Amino acid sequence: MRDLRISLTDRCNFRCRYCMPVEVFGPGYRFLPREELLSFEEIVRLARVLVPMGIGKVRLTGGEPLLRRGIEDLIAMLATVDGIEDIALTTNGVLLAHHAEALALAGLGRVTVSLDALDPQVFARMNGVGAKVDRVLAGISAARAFGLRTKVNAVIQRGVNDAEVLPLARWAKREGVDLRFIEYMDVGETNGWKLDEVVSAAELLEILGAEFELVAREPAYRGEVASHWAHRDGSCEIGVIASVTRPFCRDCQRLRLSADGKLFTCLFAAEGHDIRGILRSGSGDDVLRAAVAGSWATRKDRYSEERGLVVRPKAEMSYLGG
Ligand code: GTP
Ligand code: 5AD
Ligand code: SF4
Repeated sequence: MRDLRISLTDRCNFRCRYCMPVEVFGPGYRFLPREELLSFEEIVRLARVLVPMGIGKVRLTGGEPLLRRGIEDLIAMLATVDGIEDIALTTNGVLLAHHAEALALAGLGRVTVSLDALDPQVFARMNGVGAKVDRVLAGISAARAFGLRTKVNAVIQRGVNDAEVLPLARWAKREGVDLRFIEYMDVGETNGWKLDEVVSAAELLEILGAEFELVAREPAYRGEVASHWAHRDGSCEIGVIASVTRPFCRDCQRLRLSADGKLFTCLFAAEGHDIRGILRSGSGDDVLRAAVAGSWATRKDRYSEERGLVVRPKAEMSYLGG
């Protein structure tokens, strides 16, 4: 295990159709009550225990992690943990302009912003709440201005935002921002996923290759989920994450912690291992270590490689972390 992804909340101020459709996550939806969330102290204790087990990278996610009050304090606490070399955040970007400076000061190194369209109508429709794309663009600018290394993720869904691929790529090249296109995935049980709505990485590369001169670059590390191409002029990189058409389960080094302290060894798992119970039981770090080591050692996850062959329930991505 190398990469720990920590969900700070299952709430979000967006209702992206591919993640939290409003028909399911409407006003009557019961989100996790506050007392069920791990405290910052509990998160940091777990992080300390995991470092000697291989974790060097932490990504804060959600839901929308910027909805968790005091997130800057958590980052500052994580930044003091020896061995955590990389602290990153995944956000929808709408609150980012407001937080960027404090996040950078607290010790955040990188931010990944989801941006699925530049066209204001397409963007507003996709996020389900009519949020304005300009606010996200302002968030990206602010993050960069405060020195956060910034990447952009775009999930492409056929018939929804496939016409946005080239405009997004042109914008990213102009701005010099790294952009990754993600194949639309069947995470959770609520997004009504259909295979024919997936725009494959091969198709994405064909669209991009028709306009840009791209040069493949080697993976930066084993298990890197995106395949990357550099613009020949060196301006920036474009990546594709082919989690549907070219699964990468065998190299997966990710551990996911839900906001209520369940440890998931796969994005497509139904259930996690309860860590909060151990954290609150008065047990020592050795018990915590043994529980994590046990669930990692016995994991057999390879959902993306078995897609279509095995049917079992899956937890929602907004809950277990993106
Ligand atoms: P860094 O290497 O930390 O920069 O991040 P990353 O390249 O892993 O990117 P990020 O964390 O932004 O993940 C990008 C997207 O890839 C996610 O939002 C998911 O859609 C998808 N993804 C990430 N992890 C997994 C995984 O374990 N399995 C699958 N199938 N998809 C994943
Ligand atoms: N397929 C692919 N990516 C998804 N994300 C959320 N739902 C899906 C899905 N169904 C991505 C978001 C964001 C991150 C949190 O996860 O776009 O980049
Ligand atoms: Fe919120 Fe991100 Fe899910 Fe969209 S993809 S609903 S922004 S958690």
